[in-house]
Amino acid sequence: MVAISNAFITGVAAIAGLSPQAGGQCSLANYKPAFPANQTTLVAPAQAPKFLGLAFGVQNYTCSDASTYTAAGAVAELMDASCIASKPQFATIQNTAFTFWNLSQAPSIQTIIGQLQGLSGAPVLGQHYFVTNPVTGTGISPKWDFTSAKFKGNANAFFVGAVKANLPSPTDPTKNVAWLDVGKVQGALADEVFRYDTVGGQPPSSCTPGTALSVKYVSKYALYGGSI
Ligand SMILES: *[C@@H]1O[C@H](CO)[C@@H](O)[C@H](O)[C@H]1NC(C)=O
Ligand SMILES: *[C@@H]1O[C@H](CO)[C@@H](O)[C@H](O)[C@H]1NC(C)=O
Ligand SMILES: *[C@@H]1O[C@H](CO)[C@@H](O)[C@H](O)[C@H]1NC(C)=O
Repeated sequence: MVAISNAFITGVAAIAGLSPQAGGQCSLANYKPAFPANQTTLVAPAQAPKFLGLAFGVQNYTCSDASTYTAAGAVAELMDASCIASKPQFATIQNTAFTFWNLSQAPSIQTIIGQLQGLSGAPVLGQHYFVTNPVTGTGISPKWDFTSAKFKGNANAFFVGAVKANLPSPTDPTKNVAWLDVGKVQGALADEVFRYDTVGGQPPSSCTPGTALSVKYVSKYALYGGSI
């Protein structure tokens, strides 16, 4: 067991009420993501999600010759939020979580992922990152990988997807990355993943060609279907 005294981890665990508990997951039978009214871009499935993650991480960018940032993947840690989903404060927990994650002394996302991996009982679902597009062999695809946490040792516990629908953040699209509906390409973990309640992650509007940037973000991820 690794001792984690870091203010960030303590803060996120405390605000989220994500105290480690044996078995971890609570029922999501009554949980439905709240998407904006008057739009049909993102529609929550009728059934309940299988997994609900509160994620913190970074969105990566590289600066193009046109001096604008181009998306270049992301890395995030998904904490199991199923046991707090029914609490009123869950509706805005992303703002509180972002405040902690945005603390200047917060360690890198890779450090946090490594530390949490060594912490027995930590309510980690898994990680989100990008892999080479498995269909075309070029470009990158988003992956959600629970094989080293929630389903340790189960090589099928992943989902590689492709974005089906994209809704600009209803709060502040210049600061917060878009809300997404992601369809399945590979894996048994889920058939569909939604990213929503995003905070942060957007890059500045201009940059110096050739440079790269990681921008902190927080979001919720709801995973539906799957055969795990
Ligand atoms: C949705 O549209 C209706 C009718 O135009 C309007 O009265 C309502 O305020 C809208 N709701 C939101 C959340 O925009
Ligand atoms: C994104 O940036 C982080 C560091 O900020 C790095 O650890 C990670 O490997 C990068 N991921 C990609 C896909 O570039
Ligand atoms: C995040 O922290 C930086 C300072 O480290 C600050 O400049 C920035 O405004 C913060 N972002 C938000 C959205 O609070």
